[in-house]
Amino acid sequence: MQYAKEQFGVTFTLKQKQLEALESIYNGNDTVAVLPTGYGKSIVFQLLPWLLQKRHNRQEPMIVIIAAPLTAIMQDQVQDLCSRGIAACHLSMEGKSGTFYRKDSRDDGDDYDEYDNDDESNQQAIASVDMDDVKNGKFHLIYAHPETLVENRQFGKILRSRPFSHNVGCIAVDEVHMISEWGPSFRKSFEKLGDLVSLFPRTPHLALTATASPKSIKDLADVLQFREPKEIVTNPDRPNIFLDVRQRPPNLDFFAKHDFILRDLVGQLETELERFPVSIVYCDSLQSVGYCYQYTANRLGRKQYFPAGADTIPENRLFAQYHKDSTDDMKRQIVSELQKPQPTIRLVFATVALGMGLNAPSVRRIVHERPPTSMEKYAQEIGRCGRTGENSEAIVYFNNSDVASNRKGLHPAVKSYVESNSCLRQQLVHYFGFSNVLFCGSPTQCCCICRSNHVN
Ligand SMILES: Nc1ncnc2c1ncn2[C@@H]1O[C@H](COP(=O)(O)OP(=O)(O)OP(=O)(O)O)[C@@H](O)[C@H]1O
Ligand SMILES: [Mg+2]
Ligand SMILES: [Zn+2]
Repeated sequence: MQYAKEQFGVTFTLKQKQLEALESIYNGNDTVAVLPTGYGKSIVFQLLPWLLQKRHNRQEPMIVIIAAPLTAIMQDQVQDLCSRGIAACHLSMEGKSGTFYRKDSRDDGDDYDEYDNDDESNQQAIASVDMDDVKNGKFHLIYAHPETLVENRQFGKILRSRPFSHNVGCIAVDEVHMISEWGPSFRKSFEKLGDLVSLFPRTPHLALTATASPKSIKDLADVLQFREPKEIVTNPDRPNIFLDVRQRPPNLDFFAKHDFILRDLVGQLETELERFPVSIVYCDSLQSVGYCYQYTANRLGRKQYFPAGADTIPENRLFAQYHKDSTDDMKRQIVSELQKPQPTIRLVFATVALGMGLNAPSVRRIVHERPPTSMEKYAQEIGRCGRTGENSEAIVYFNNSDVASNRKGLHPAVKSYVESNSCLRQQLVHYFGFSNVLFCGSPTQCCCICRSNHVN
């Protein structure tokens, strides 16, 4: 894997399942890779242009198209790739334009749309791609929304054109669990991605996710029309995340529901400031995010800006909100801030819009104000913390109405999980088809149930 080092400056050794996935694609197999959150699935498809170049004896790296559901995650990965000098871009939903990032300098030209200006040394200019360059294979890694790939006539033309189609080495679908999660009623293009298999019949196709049960792996492969897919699966357990479930009082009113959680959490932020463990609080609605944000602003007053005496500008605020209506710039700022070893932002109130794919090594704690409706969402969301192996925790609050049978879309496994009297980790891996956990530390570090059984 020499080019892993050469192309990416990768210093780590590839893991067993990463190698297996690469090998499977190299051998031309349609492949489903179900590997834990934070395992390193991105590097698998990111290395493919060079691997497939070698495989097919090409002059240039081949094109890998990545279908992915969240713009912010695409932006983040493309930005990272471009900073390493790799020709990557992400396309707009309409498929008429795209974006890549240039390592600065401001004097270089006039075609930069704007600057990502938080860090002088790592300044990147956002630039528009020339769609002819896309067509001619200048970009080796092309990220796009499923909609763009299967429903967009403009990009459809490029997909079918030569030499583009001749240069496509693999089509990857990231976060493929979204197919079963949202089903045909929402983002139906995710379901139609199977059409790409018929469009590129000689190309291996790759589907990736952290969260698919054995049955849903089969379903996903069917929907995508994979041909005799090779499954590469490993235990989803994240041993460094302590799992905690806590009861919340009944929902007296909208405010009480949040206040119960925020009182302690924001109190801790007020005391600890920059030492507060970087946390994401998942809220169930835009309205809840807005309320939590405002509560925190009111409670902290001048202390919301760090360090003391700092300018009262958003960049100096200790907390943030992230939801689908946040502007792209705001989303990008939050993501890049969370990726710093010591972010100013310590607490983010978020909806599912920040629920998957985010690789932010600083995050140490996930709080759910109420349980998500599926174990897939839960596992995805807690997977945002502890990405570099540090001890982290995931706390989910619930009350009876959160797990009442009339809650729309609630999977029964979620109710069993929060009401469990036995090891939560065991339940989680069991749901995803594994009988044993990877965790082998002290019961006090496993989950709240093991901890309390151990103490009593
Ligand atoms: N073999 C490896 N050894 C150590 N670190 C690795 C390895 N492969 C990837 N990484 C790092 O792991 C981190 C997580 O990678 P990535 O975001 O691809 O995870 P993921 O599997 O896609 O998770 P998610 O399911 O949450 O999207 C990245 O910082 C990446 O550089
Ligand atoms: Mg990922
Ligand atoms: Zn346990």
